Amino acid sequence: MTAVPEPVGGLHLECAAAGLAVGVPPGTSILEAVRRAGLEVPAACDDGRCGACETRVLDGDPDHRDGVLTAEERAFGETMMICVSGARGSHLVLDL
Ligand code: FES
Repeated sequence: MTAVPEPVGGLHLECAAAGLAVGVPPGTSILEAVRRAGLEVPAACDDGRCGACETRVLDGDPDHRDGVLTAEERAFGETMMICVSGARGSHLVLDL
């Protein structure tokens, strides 16, 4: 797995499919961080409304901030919108 330095106070993200570790600094979206790391991720609205960036969560506790998922889907925690949502902990593994 390729390691990108983890920022202090940020999120340590693992992109399982790509075998990439990505540091997400505070104030940066997961979408922005993974794009900077070179991954091509579909997105359209960039503000949690369209669902285009929906990504499967493999491990960790997402902090949902989108307007797409239902309360039931949020509770289940299987997917998240990476343009606006973050994590409740400091570690997240996504199917990217
Ligand atoms: S890009 Fe639209 S919900 Fe993320």
